[in-house]
Amino acid sequence: MVQKYDAIIDSTEAMAAQAAADAGAHLPADQIDATKFYITQHWDRYTEENHRTWAALYARRIETLREQASNVFLSGFDAFNLPKTHMPRLSEVNKVLQGKTGWQSRPVPGYLPAKSFFACLARREFPTTITIRPFDKLDYLPEPDIFHDVYGHVPLHADPVFAEFLQTYGKAALMCDDEVHVKRLGRLFWFTVEFGLIREDGRLKIYGSGLMSSIGESKYSLESDIPERRPFDLEQVCNTDFEIDHFQPIYYVLDSFAQLRDAMNSYAEQVLGVGAAH
Ligand SMILES: [Fe+2]
Repeated sequence: MVQKYDAIIDSTEAMAAQAAADAGAHLPADQIDATKFYITQHWDRYTEENHRTWAALYARRIETLREQASNVFLSGFDAFNLPKTHMPRLSEVNKVLQGKTGWQSRPVPGYLPAKSFFACLARREFPTTITIRPFDKLDYLPEPDIFHDVYGHVPLHADPVFAEFLQTYGKAALMCDDEVHVKRLGRLFWFTVEFGLIREDGRLKIYGSGLMSSIGESKYSLESDIPERRPFDLEQVCNTDFEIDHFQPIYYVLDSFAQLRDAMNSYAEQVLGVGAAH
């Protein structure tokens, strides 16, 4: 089947990258070459509609961002000074990241298999979608786009503690070829990186990118009486199934990102053997 790519993507390059990522999922961890999964962000090919969509999403999200988002997220967000009226360039984002934590945002052609995704995280590289949803579907997000990835995920990569957590997560997930652990680590990602809450200054704040990119669910996660909010406990998180396609019934609340990093380091040592996480 010929895959159809957005016009901003070079389809020959994208097909080769996707094939490498698909093949990488079947290789031993030390033979995976994540650099082959990446493509070029042809920024000049973005359309007026693309820029307008980014601008509309930015303007809408910023209205409540400062009340809702974690201070740690906001300090990363402010450091990037993302453009308000046009699509961001990953090269600009990466200049800031380089000086902060060494993480980089790398353009990918689409969905990467789990193991290939983990191989990128283990290198402090975040596989980043570079397409954006249509203007007439601002709320419709069946899969990640550049707004979800850059506005929602990348600000936390500028924080040294979160940066360490995410790399350790990638290393541990890459090395344990055990389905049980991969499933548990998938839940951990979901309940933290995607839908995590944190308590700061005595208040609940959001930091998960799934919440950053959903105006409706961010308000619900912070204010509604319906969902259950549990204190973060890594073991419990890893044993909790998650649900997709509707607002979450359960959120886990961190005390700090150090709590998440330390729990991940312990888990990685347990999975990989003492010292392997470092
Ligand atoms: Fe995400």
